[in-house]
Amino acid sequence: MPARPQLFANNRAWAAKMKAQDPQFFIKLTRQQHPRYLWIGCSDSRVPANEIVGLMPGELFVHRNVANVVVHTDLNCLSVLQYAIDVLKVDRIIVCGHYGCGGVAAALRDESLGLIDNWLLHIRDVARKHQGQLAALPSEVARVDRLVELNVIEQAVNVCDTTIVKNAWASGRDLAVMGWVYSLHDGLLRDLSFSVHRADEVAAAYRAAISATQVNGRHGA
Ligand code: CO
Repeated sequence: MPARPQLFANNRAWAAKMKAQDPQFFIKLTRQQHPRYLWIGCSDSRVPANEIVGLMPGELFVHRNVANVVVHTDLNCLSVLQYAIDVLKVDRIIVCGHYGCGGVAAALRDESLGLIDNWLLHIRDVARKHQGQLAALPSEVARVDRLVELNVIEQAVNVCDTTIVKNAWASGRDLAVMGWVYSLHDGLLRDLSFSVHRADEVAAAYRAAISATQVNGRHGA
């Protein structure tokens, strides 16, 4: 049995449910989207962005890739950022990783998974940068989860460093860049205390977030 018929049936049921809740729902959405937030997260199927923050279609602009990486030469990610900030006028950018991230774990273990290895080199760079802090942790699980946090902070800084965000701040825009982590174990988000509203806050926020050792995603797991 191909997967498609079930997905189409699911879709019809979902559309009917949304329409029952609000008969104008789809009509309103076709007019315009007004998301306040841009979410940059991992592609992991267990981290559905809209659902975990309880936002409806139209409320969250989303970019996802393996291990939520923001690369300065990634035209895809940069285009999402530019469109979100300049056209949609989002004022909150959330970089959200998740504990137990397979991409981060593969990078840390130097596993070979194919083409993706090249993408994960960005995470290996983060691991190398914070080698001392990671080596001091007692287990591989703790190292993966700390690297998840460090990666979020580094990628959030990469967002801050883009000309798109810098220009927005220079023009006086109220724009915040935040770093969060999601836990698969309890479905809860953790704030990594990286929340930047101005260009001159980035360096201090980075130092504070990096020095605050958290690794709090695996409690009881
Ligand atoms: Co992941």
